[in-house]
Amino acid sequence: MPDDRPYDAIIIGAGAAGMFCAALAGQRGRRILLLDHNSEPGRKILISGGGRCNFTNVGAQAENFLSANPHFAKSALGRFTPSDFIALVDKHRIAWHEKTLGQLFCDGSSRQIVAMLLDECAAGGVETAFGGSSTIEHRDGAFHVGKSSAPALVLATGGLSIPKLGATSLAYDIARRFGHKIVEPRPALVPLTLPVDQALFKELSGVSANVVASVGKGRFREAALFTHRGLSGPAILQVSSYWRHGDAVIIDFLPDLGAGWLRQAKRDHPQQTFRRVLARLLPERLAATLADQLRVEGDLGNVPDRTLEGAERQLSGWHFLPNGTEGFAKAEVTIGGISTADLSSRTMESRRVPGLFAIGEAVDVTGWLGGYNFQWAWASAYAAAQAL
Ligand code: FDA
Repeated sequence: MPDDRPYDAIIIGAGAAGMFCAALAGQRGRRILLLDHNSEPGRKILISGGGRCNFTNVGAQAENFLSANPHFAKSALGRFTPSDFIALVDKHRIAWHEKTLGQLFCDGSSRQIVAMLLDECAAGGVETAFGGSSTIEHRDGAFHVGKSSAPALVLATGGLSIPKLGATSLAYDIARRFGHKIVEPRPALVPLTLPVDQALFKELSGVSANVVASVGKGRFREAALFTHRGLSGPAILQVSSYWRHGDAVIIDFLPDLGAGWLRQAKRDHPQQTFRRVLARLLPERLAATLADQLRVEGDLGNVPDRTLEGAERQLSGWHFLPNGTEGFAKAEVTIGGISTADLSSRTMESRRVPGLFAIGEAVDVTGWLGGYNFQWAWASAYAAAQAL
């Protein structure tokens, strides 16, 4: 029988947050309309985690997120945890594994997560309209989207990353229209580019090493990868979220070695060259480039201790000065977005316009690499769904 009740809420954006919010609210008995301008929902989920969707991180806590208000995410993250999402994945018999650092991936395909969310939407009687766009108005206490209207509107259109998958600034535009502030959106979890004077490192394209990379408060021990344009790999993507123009990225190439290791190497292997010693610790091409840059020549036994100490200091705190990022086209997420200042951390509802909600990546809450961004999408969706 067709449902002729009025809609309780219209959700714009059928990505991770929008689909999950629609499903939960529908299952709470709300009549929900879920819209997306793409003809296929969840396109970012499909390509996420290299096609296996890193759907959560077991260690997700507010400390793993960046926001102008670092406390904002606590309430939602605390009320819908990684275990809650894992229980749903298990209910749908989707096999998964922990890859590293608490990151959970599907054994099979990201498609299973999209199918699960669509099944949950169907269980909640969610109505969907994909592949069209509509005007949005607010009058007489209701939100009018095309020919449909509802007392609540949920903005779930994500950030600006990967425009070719359908990313737009719609959530920011609407929020701004209703008087919300937008924290400047910037590409994050994105490769960094190096200027010509550091071009030497571009010759290392394809070489990676396990390092500690730092920018400001961001410090990550993971792999860094040299590319023909600059720096990439998990360690660099992580620190890119903390990076602003003018900042140095500091790399410790040998984080496991304590102070004095090079002088010790001189005593143990006085007839080895610096380059040879480095090549035992780092990929050969990287060792050669670093040795050339440090200009430590000849057998270690003939190199003054002071020179070795200087080389050691540089190897544990190499300064790269990126001149930019690879931009929204390559960024996994957008940092910044709808300011949390005028949103309820409990419900994600606007404090300015009753009935207006914002969830997921559209909000100024950005997770580290490793399943954190999906956990925020699920948790913020859950918070809003309880209030619809
Ligand atoms: P999301 O972007 O998922 O959805 C927004 C929806 O709104 C889209 O369906 C879009 O079409 C729609 N929309 C946009 N503008 C619209 C408009 N004007 N009208 C109507 N609809 C509109 N995270 C993680 O935790 N683990 C991972 O493995 C990965 N991997 C990953 C890989 C790659 C390549 C990218 C680009 C990103 C990731 N991420 C990730 C990040 C993760 O995908 C992202 O944070 C979430 O998808 C955000 O969920 P949202 O629902 O907020 O936005």
